Amino acid sequence: MKKIISIVGARPQFIKHAPMQLELQKHFKALTIHTGQHYDENMSAVFFDELKMPKPDFLFDIGGSKPQGEQTGIMMTEIEKVCMIEKPDALLVYGDTNSTLAGALVAAKMHIPQIHIEAGLRSFNREMPEEINRIVADEFAHLLFCPTDNAIENLKKEGISHNRIFRCGDVMCDMVKMMEPRAMAPVNHPYYFVTIHRPYNTDEPERMQAILQTLNGLDKKVIFSIHPRTVARLAQFGILQDDFKNIIFIAPTGYVESVSYQKFSDCVITDSGGIQKEAYILGKKCITLRSETEWTETLHNGWNTLVFDDVTEIEKVLAQPCGEYIDDIYGDGHAAAEITSLIQNHL
Ligand code: UD1
Ligand code: UDP
Repeated sequence: MKKIISIVGARPQFIKHAPMQLELQKHFKALTIHTGQHYDENMSAVFFDELKMPKPDFLFDIGGSKPQGEQTGIMMTEIEKVCMIEKPDALLVYGDTNSTLAGALVAAKMHIPQIHIEAGLRSFNREMPEEINRIVADEFAHLLFCPTDNAIENLKKEGISHNRIFRCGDVMCDMVKMMEPRAMAPVNHPYYFVTIHRPYNTDEPERMQAILQTLNGLDKKVIFSIHPRTVARLAQFGILQDDFKNIIFIAPTGYVESVSYQKFSDCVITDSGGIQKEAYILGKKCITLRSETEWTETLHNGWNTLVFDDVTEIEKVLAQPCGEYIDDIYGDGHAAAEITSLIQNHL
């Protein structure tokens, strides 16, 4: 049996890995490295428990908050050590985090075929660490699994060879379709559901204040699932959650709860990549606090709207109706099976 080691480390990767691990373990010796990038119980362990994933075979302690290079370097050192002993037939990485980059670089240096899931996405904003991570992962990938036609086009433009690229559904869509039946209304009043964690929204006190003030002035309650990065910045800037009476701050939730909060909200307001997509799959209007998105399909007919320079535009956008909804743009919920079968054919 061939051996594949999947590398995860950040919250969205645990969610992407759940359906993949289910399929991979049927056909491969499927091991998992958790880089320790996210380590709080509610950012990590909760997903392994709730989504019934086997515990990671290797879990690194990278020691919390670190600058980009140091964090990536420590992960690379540890991944390399595991690969020297385990000698995998392939390393599988997801998306665009520093854990993705570390895995992709080790695979390239050790001449281990690298599989990239969620390949070809581009924001065309090279100030985002994620954009650098994606470009490197795609450049060195042996097999590239793209969830959208745009992603395929992006790779073609970069001259990445066609016989390594596959158009598949999106593994996050598998998860939404699997778990949506378990979603239940989390509260009995109308609300907007908010998540914000991107450095360009959280790392300047004026920007963070402006966002919170706008949310505080909305016509419905705001439920804000607050990422540890955002908690840390609020504390650093001396911004008090209690000063925003319209906002209910909650700790990061488990996955079914996150789907529930989105599904029963009046609108999702976010800067998360995964949540833009999930909101679309759930047929929920979304406002994205970014100047660009990799998930451009969600923008059709007003289902997702970018708001960046002037955050007070949120109010105006909330009042605008959405147009026709196009079904299944992220697949029919069987992406993980499809990807695994392609890996079997090509490894
Ligand atoms: C990372 C990814 C981002 C992804 C996000 C998902 C990179 C460059 N960024 O951003 O693409 O959207 O994860 O959530 O890889 N922290 C904790 N506890 C935790 C995790 C983080 O306290 O369990 C705090 C630490 O102070 C840390 C900060 O959050 O310094 C940022 O964490 P980090 O993993 O570096 O980046 P994210 O903002 O989470
Ligand atoms: N999510 C969660 N609980 C929360 C907030 C988000 O389970 O409190 C899930 C969400 O449903 C999605 C994923 O985390 O599946 C998105 O991760 P995140 O926003 O951290 O990262 P990004 O997708 O922006 O990289």
